[in-house]
Amino acid sequence: MDKKEVRFGIVGIGKQGTFYTKIFTKLKWLVKGARLTAVCDILPERRKYAEENLPGVKVFEDYKEMFASGLVDAVMIETPHYFHPVIAIDAMRAGLNVLCDKPAGVYTKQVREMNEEAKKHPDLLFGMMFNQRTNPLYIKAKELIESGRLGKLTRIVWIITNWYRPRAYYAQGGWRGTWWGEGGGVLLNQCPHQLDLFTWLAGLPVSVTATASTVGRDISVENDVTAYCKFENGATGVFITSTHDAPGTNRLEITGEGGKIVIENGKLVFTENCELEPVFSEHNTVFMGKPKTKKYTYRGIGHYLRLKKYPPQHIGIIKNYTDYLLKKTDKFTAPGEQGITGLTFSNAIHLASWTGREVSIPLDEEAFIAELEARKAEEKASEKK
Ligand SMILES: NC(=O)c1ccc[n+]([C@@H]2O[C@H](COP(=O)([O-])OP(=O)(O)OC[C@H]3O[C@@H](n4cnc5c(N)ncnc54)[C@H](O)[C@@H]3O)[C@@H](O)[C@H]2O)c1
Repeated sequence: MDKKEVRFGIVGIGKQGTFYTKIFTKLKWLVKGARLTAVCDILPERRKYAEENLPGVKVFEDYKEMFASGLVDAVMIETPHYFHPVIAIDAMRAGLNVLCDKPAGVYTKQVREMNEEAKKHPDLLFGMMFNQRTNPLYIKAKELIESGRLGKLTRIVWIITNWYRPRAYYAQGGWRGTWWGEGGGVLLNQCPHQLDLFTWLAGLPVSVTATASTVGRDISVENDVTAYCKFENGATGVFITSTHDAPGTNRLEITGEGGKIVIENGKLVFTENCELEPVFSEHNTVFMGKPKTKKYTYRGIGHYLRLKKYPPQHIGIIKNYTDYLLKKTDKFTAPGEQGITGLTFSNAIHLASWTGREVSIPLDEEAFIAELEARKAEEKASEKK
């Protein structure tokens, strides 16, 4: 973009959209080059909030009017999940850049349509709010994998059970915790970040088996998941998540022939084998021998913040998106088209748990939609009772 600033418009100023308005107003020195010029919400009380709290920002009820206003260059989409691809496609057709929040959508078919539309607009920037990709520990893990130091990947295990959500969270009602409104539970709401990172680091599996259930909460969607997956190279993976474990865990382990990465408690520990495991095993003659190792520890985000190396989380994504549009960087952290990868894994986990069968990827999208629709119908029927 040959401009000095990017004018942002936000569709949906509920909890998350409002959080972003605060970044644009109260923390604006952290997102230099970005300016909030318009917001939009279908709810009168959210528009009233905007009118009273966002001076100089134009408030719309209909996002299509905001898109046609000439006031915005880029649109942030902060609505419930089903609308993400719909609004993104409309924004692209209106000639606007898009920064969509996670998840990319509820099912891969609609997200593929969004990606097809994006391909028709190579002049527009399409990004996804994968704010955890700015975490230096995951960036370091990716560097270690891509540099070849971890060697051929053999296993990835992520236990991410610290997304604790009590009854009161789901009791807020509305679209949360429902098939019709949210399209899923922990997989669609809390975990898109980890599902993105899991596949960003290890690639997309080729098959998945899983159980997904509802534990201790009065909701129809899942809040407890255990998935087992296989990768093309023979590696395996396990993904465990829940919103009811207290205390929970957030531990990522990635093993390769060259060693092991563990990310937990705000640090990454890389234990590097001095030689690749298969090479060692081949020449070692010692009963119960093991490869010699070296240990490297990388500290988390606080350390990097002090070094001012990486802006964190959502600010980091908005800053990177703005800088990329203004041609101040040639590195783009979270391309929108990549949103489909984690969602494919998510849809495969759901389908595997619903059918009780191993699901292959590429996914049978129609089978997924049919199963999802059946759950929505069941939910509607039980509400009527
Ligand atoms: N990246 C993150 O860390 C993160 C964190 C929380 C939520 N989110 C995502 O943000 C999105 C919004 O979540 P939330 O918690 O703010 O929900 P919310 O219900 O608080 O807000 C959604 C808002 O969108 C508005 N809306 C719905 N349809 C609209 C339309 N067609 N046009 C204009 N406005 C519309 C609603 O009126 C509401 O005000 C979700 O996709 C969620 O997954 C992302």
